[in-house]
Amino acid sequence: MTDHELQELLGRLTIEEKVGQLVQCNASQFIRNNLEMTGPDGELLPAEELCRVMGSLLTFEDARQARELQDMHLAADPNKIPLLLMLDVIHGLRTTYPIPLAMGCTFDDELLAECADMARKESSACGVHVTFNPMVDTARDARWGRILETNSEEPLINSRMGAALVRVTQGQDLSRKENVACCVKHYAAYGAGEAGRDYNTVELSERTLRETYFPAYKACVDAGVRLVMPSFNSLNGIPSVANKWLMNQVLREEWGFDGVVISDYNAVGELVSHGVASDLRDAVRMSMEAGCDIDMVRNAYYLHLADLVREGTVPEEALNEAVLRVLNLKNELGLFENPYHGADEEAEKQLYLCREHREIARRAAEESAVLLKNEGILPFSRDVKRIALIGPFAEEKRLNGFWSRPGAEQYTVTIPEGIRALLPEVRLDIERGCGACFEDTDRSRIDAAVEAARKADAVILAVGEPENYSGEGRSRAELSLPGPQMELARRVIAANPHTAVVLFNGRPLVLTELSDIAPALLEMWYPGTEGGNALARLLWGEANPCGKLSAGLPRSVGQYPMPYNRTNTGRPKPPPDSRSVPFTSCYLDMPNLPLYSFGYGLSYTDFIYESLTMDQKSMNRDGEIRVTVTLRNAGQRAGKEAVQLYLQDPVASVVRPVQQLIDYRKVALKPGERAEVEFVITEKQLRLVNAECREVSEPGEFRISAGYADHLILTQSFELKE
Ligand code: BGC
Repeated sequence: MTDHELQELLGRLTIEEKVGQLVQCNASQFIRNNLEMTGPDGELLPAEELCRVMGSLLTFEDARQARELQDMHLAADPNKIPLLLMLDVIHGLRTTYPIPLAMGCTFDDELLAECADMARKESSACGVHVTFNPMVDTARDARWGRILETNSEEPLINSRMGAALVRVTQGQDLSRKENVACCVKHYAAYGAGEAGRDYNTVELSERTLRETYFPAYKACVDAGVRLVMPSFNSLNGIPSVANKWLMNQVLREEWGFDGVVISDYNAVGELVSHGVASDLRDAVRMSMEAGCDIDMVRNAYYLHLADLVREGTVPEEALNEAVLRVLNLKNELGLFENPYHGADEEAEKQLYLCREHREIARRAAEESAVLLKNEGILPFSRDVKRIALIGPFAEEKRLNGFWSRPGAEQYTVTIPEGIRALLPEVRLDIERGCGACFEDTDRSRIDAAVEAARKADAVILAVGEPENYSGEGRSRAELSLPGPQMELARRVIAANPHTAVVLFNGRPLVLTELSDIAPALLEMWYPGTEGGNALARLLWGEANPCGKLSAGLPRSVGQYPMPYNRTNTGRPKPPPDSRSVPFTSCYLDMPNLPLYSFGYGLSYTDFIYESLTMDQKSMNRDGEIRVTVTLRNAGQRAGKEAVQLYLQDPVASVVRPVQQLIDYRKVALKPGERAEVEFVITEKQLRLVNAECREVSEPGEFRISAGYADHLILTQSFELKE
């Protein structure tokens, strides 16, 4: 449709029909209508009238249903405006790849893009028009159950991976049926909820917002993301969906976002619970004033918007603008010409879990695993013939993590399946040992597990957090291994020192004791469909671990917040970190630094960082400096290394981080091979947000290092000239 035709269409719509475009309900509600359900759920259901003019639907099953929904709607809608179909495809649709936090550990934007590309293909075949992805909330507190949905505690990784996902998923031309529109979320600072509790209050200075929390959303806007979702939380007193500064001023005016804003699930209605709207009607007015176009579920717009427009409280112009944005998106997706977009049952059959997709998912699972400790245990030698596979995750199929599609576990390769596929001759003695839930207290099976450990050549101890302990609404105050798992670990490791502990979890856990006693520790996160195959290959050295922590692992929950790029204080603690020093910024009862720092991860080979050189020692604002990091694979195996570049700004007008990641690149090296990894530093990377909240660079000395957080090496300095 041309712009003119869209305007004409808009002009033909009644106020109710326009409001319909801004309303979204679940596909299941849409189908059942309000006939079958009663009680609280029944109240959420749209009336038949609404179904006729409904603008979009959330969460549906497959291509067949996508087509049916569209047909059902188009048959009823007098204006024949197709529905937008939206789904949370976060880390794969049917072929599930590792959770986003694990993908961050790959430090590999291209691998992320490959995964996003396969998710795009499966999603478009399923009939998805919009995915609620990427989630780029900077998250620095693992008590928050949604930390798994973000790539990292570091905004640079979130920005680069988020933007890569947007570019790949949306493609050049959204009207092509293989492309899917993205909705970046949750704007803004949802990850900074106080005490790590989901939906909780956020208080942050504008300077911190601009420096740490905004950049990743902005990067996605710059990459052309078509939708933005405001967050549930209040930010400095105002819930995001009603935050005019956040939405109108920063998002639309400053960043030039011209796409659709869609509320989070019932967030408009929740303005009443927040206590900033007197009732639902007031909530609608406030959200419209803040430029929220679509009301996701709960029908607040449906119930009140038309009246508010008629009485003049919400100008009809504002309604028109919101509707036009929605119609524009439908038009960009080519839905007026092809309302089914990519929905194709045949394509679903060919693509879902196809060999190529499984192979991408397996590689991603291998490359996101982080080897935390290895005292010569791994990789297992081929002489290891008898393995005791112990722990609550020994045969677990739920290794996909939050936002995997319902039923995803039936396609997951378990650990025994992975090992048997790789090494059919290995004898596996499987013992669960204990459960992994808070309420699991039964220790009666630990003896049998210890017995199996004693008889085995080596032990794989698979422990972690049940899949439903992380994700939305799943915050924890303690981050220990739930249930009797530590007791199991102590006894099994004591029985057989050839024990490799593998972890499945959706957040950084406190592993202080486990890391002390475990001879080897491999963090698998939730690896997805190919988890078992990836793990087997990692354990036997068919794959070499190369993941680096995308968020540090604390020694204790009491250390939070502990961003790796903390700023300095007036009383910094002198090294070593292991002891406390009176009247400096430290704890009496433990070190300041995390147990494992951001950017850390071991390999089966040895990478030696030989040098860091610069082509110049000073630059002008329009100049650049080439930094070359030389590293060598000094070990016996091929491997990959995420080379990380850190910046320090020793003197500035505002306090600066003690270390700031400014670039990274993953390189693959054969044994004995050497790589010269080149980075280009420009003025942009040297900027800070000053006391006036302006992004500026300040002349003076800067330092550049390689290594990883708290372990910077090869430091060199240069000057930014006036
Ligand atoms: C979540 C969003 C999600 C939406 C739709 C909400 O509860 O916060 O992340 O996209 O539901 O499923």
